[in-house]
Amino acid sequence: MEFSLSPKHEMLRTMYREFSEKELVPIAAQIDETMEFPFETVKKMAELGFMGIPYPKEYGGAAAGDLAYILAVEEISRACASHGVTLSVHISLCCWPIYKYGNQAQKEKYLIPLASGKKLGAFGLTEPNAGTDASGLQTRAVFDGDEYVLNGSKIFITNGGIADVYVVQAVTDPGKGLKGISSFIVEKGTPGFTFGKKENKMGIRGSVQTELIFQDCRIPKENLLGQEGDGFKIAMTTLDGGRIGIGAQALGIAQAALEEAVKYSKERIQFNKPIANNQAIQWMIADMATEIDAARFLVYRAAWLKENNKPYSKEAAMAKLFASETAMRASHKAVQIHGGYGFIKEYRVERLMRDAKITEIYEGTSEVQRMVIAGATLK
Ligand code: CAA
Repeated sequence: MEFSLSPKHEMLRTMYREFSEKELVPIAAQIDETMEFPFETVKKMAELGFMGIPYPKEYGGAAAGDLAYILAVEEISRACASHGVTLSVHISLCCWPIYKYGNQAQKEKYLIPLASGKKLGAFGLTEPNAGTDASGLQTRAVFDGDEYVLNGSKIFITNGGIADVYVVQAVTDPGKGLKGISSFIVEKGTPGFTFGKKENKMGIRGSVQTELIFQDCRIPKENLLGQEGDGFKIAMTTLDGGRIGIGAQALGIAQAALEEAVKYSKERIQFNKPIANNQAIQWMIADMATEIDAARFLVYRAAWLKENNKPYSKEAAMAKLFASETAMRASHKAVQIHGGYGFIKEYRVERLMRDAKITEIYEGTSEVQRMVIAGATLK
């Protein structure tokens, strides 16, 4: 059993950290305030090969593996969680289903430009009446001639409007329940495919979540991913991997909260001594450090399992559940340690606590993760 990263992974972590410190830390508060999508820095991430870290070179990727990708999301999110989710959704929720279920033509047409960073990806599952109950989709895809005609809408879609390529789930056969759902690749600019409301959010405000609207949107039959009826399985297995990415995002947020809490508690003098000398503060720091280490082991283990082609659905859910709840607890404690300063926007912990919350919700709430873990444990 190996508890340290390989020299290759240490080197990559240093590279991701240096990039994040130099490029993301300076703009994180600003994009949080303005909700501007950071096109420039996402372009820089693409130029450095971040957008296809785990995928083979023949498909435009960096062939660095899942653990390297998870280290990138962790380090990027330590600096700016908005960039973290932009990357995670692109790699895990758009590139991966095309890599796993796409045919050669689809990989050449879509995965290569996505993984090489020329295009950005998104994933369309959630609808107003289909959140946790992902099987309750109402978006329809009807086969007509050589095309599918899509009608319906999706909400809360990360990278919506910005992304060029969307993996979208729709009902092809309403009589077949879960087996009547299919996945499609839809390109931005397809007639009948438009974008609705852009959400104004509590956190991750530098990332974009929008509505997708399909009105008689005709897409070629070649854009069906896998077979008709595979869509629910494609979505669920895609989310298994996505949850490791969100676990890594949460880990980065939690790590940043700990570092801020340590720094501030050593600087802040009350009663003629640093507040870090107080046991009440030390216990909070101890709990944060312990939980973050535990979360890190869970997240890295899930990434390792995926990279080594072993089952990882339950472990990904455990990683996401524990890391996201750790991020919430750690950022909450960091704000508490900062006292009144933690409540104002000049201090980073205020943003960290708002950013942490969504990690307990998207790509399956904590309750969904517990359902997945319980289901696998009781099986
Ligand atoms: N892998 C493979 N197959 C799976 C699977 C998985 N992980 N999970 C379920 N399935 C299969 C089951 O084996 C079953 O197949 P059979 O019928 O052949 O036996 C079938 O799917 C149905 O399984 P369930 O009965 O467990 O399905 P369910 O309808 O009860 O739903 C659920 C289970 C876990 C609640 C699921 O709906 C779920 O994960 N919901 C949460 C959805 C979610 O995470 N949404 C996130 C949106 S994307 C996002 O947030 C992106 C972003 O912006 C960052």
